Amino acid sequence: MNPVMDQSYNDKRAAFIAAVPKAELHLHIEGSLEPEMMFALARRNGVELPYDSVEAVSAAYQFANLQEFLDLYYLGMQVLVEEEDFYDLTMAYLERVRRDNVRHVEIFFDPQGHTERGIPFDRVMQGIQRALDEGRDRLGISYKLIMCFLRHLSEESAFATLADAEPWLTKIDGVGLDSGEVGNPPEEFARVFEKCRDLGLKLVAHAGEEGPPDYVWQALDTLKIDRIDHGNRALEDAALVERIVADGYTLTVCPLSNLKLCVIDDIGESPVKTMLDQGIKVTVNSDDPSYFGGYINDNYHAVANALDLTIEEIAALAANSFTGSFLGADEIAKGQAEIDLLMRRTAEPE
Ligand code: HPA
Ligand code: ZN
Repeated sequence: MNPVMDQSYNDKRAAFIAAVPKAELHLHIEGSLEPEMMFALARRNGVELPYDSVEAVSAAYQFANLQEFLDLYYLGMQVLVEEEDFYDLTMAYLERVRRDNVRHVEIFFDPQGHTERGIPFDRVMQGIQRALDEGRDRLGISYKLIMCFLRHLSEESAFATLADAEPWLTKIDGVGLDSGEVGNPPEEFARVFEKCRDLGLKLVAHAGEEGPPDYVWQALDTLKIDRIDHGNRALEDAALVERIVADGYTLTVCPLSNLKLCVIDDIGESPVKTMLDQGIKVTVNSDDPSYFGGYINDNYHAVANALDLTIEEIAALAANSFTGSFLGADEIAKGQAEIDLLMRRTAEPE
């Protein structure tokens, strides 16, 4: 029997997705700003929004490409002004994903999206950091913090941001590269990434979301990144796939983001299963959940249903989220052991 035709299998799989411990490795904290909070913070801070209602915000979230999304993403983050705002934003995300059995997060933040409008770097850090520490202690969610450089801005601006970050480097685990991809190739940030590497930071970069496979090659060979964000278009280049598999790079794929930004036309085109089949360490993530219509488990459910994934494949995705994280070996082993235990329990007859 084809297990995917079996309703009880589908129910078991859904229960497995809900229960399986997982890490989220691709999440822009500013992209978790829900319309309700956007309105509340706008009121609190006296910021004018070009929307009449929460419903109007949600209705505006129709994007033909990455740039259309980014325009609203940078607009929305203008309501983030005080330390408390960054704290509230981060805490709301952590409380939400605790319900999805997320045990570890590696959160991106975009300091230039704030410093460019006069918000001090330290204020952003203090708010995010306080929520992450509280989330770790109260909710049991461990974390790493990844500071992203906006690639539509200059190398000079990236270096200035790194200088702002220097007093905080014990609290920042890595750097990333995000914002409009096409026309802003990774190699333009080679020098700042080299400096970050010398400072002992982990390196990641968005590559191959809209940009060509060559941008993924540049991220690997010029930036020398540790993990690839998105990487969808790597599949167009067999030699690149071979390299990714041989060197064991993890890819942080974001299915509902891909759908909303028209990287794919249908969720059934998500590359998650193809990547698993090719031996790529693929993970499932939400990217900007408030803008793309789903948190991490929504993304797991969407690909599981559309691609007829097996429970073993779901377990592999969850395991990849730990092995691809920047956690230490003991914590990775703990995550894997919990997944294995749940697998054994799921396999037992009822
Ligand atoms: N791609 C590039 N930049 C971003 C994204 C994304 O999906 N989300 C927030 N900034
Ligand atoms: Zn992203």
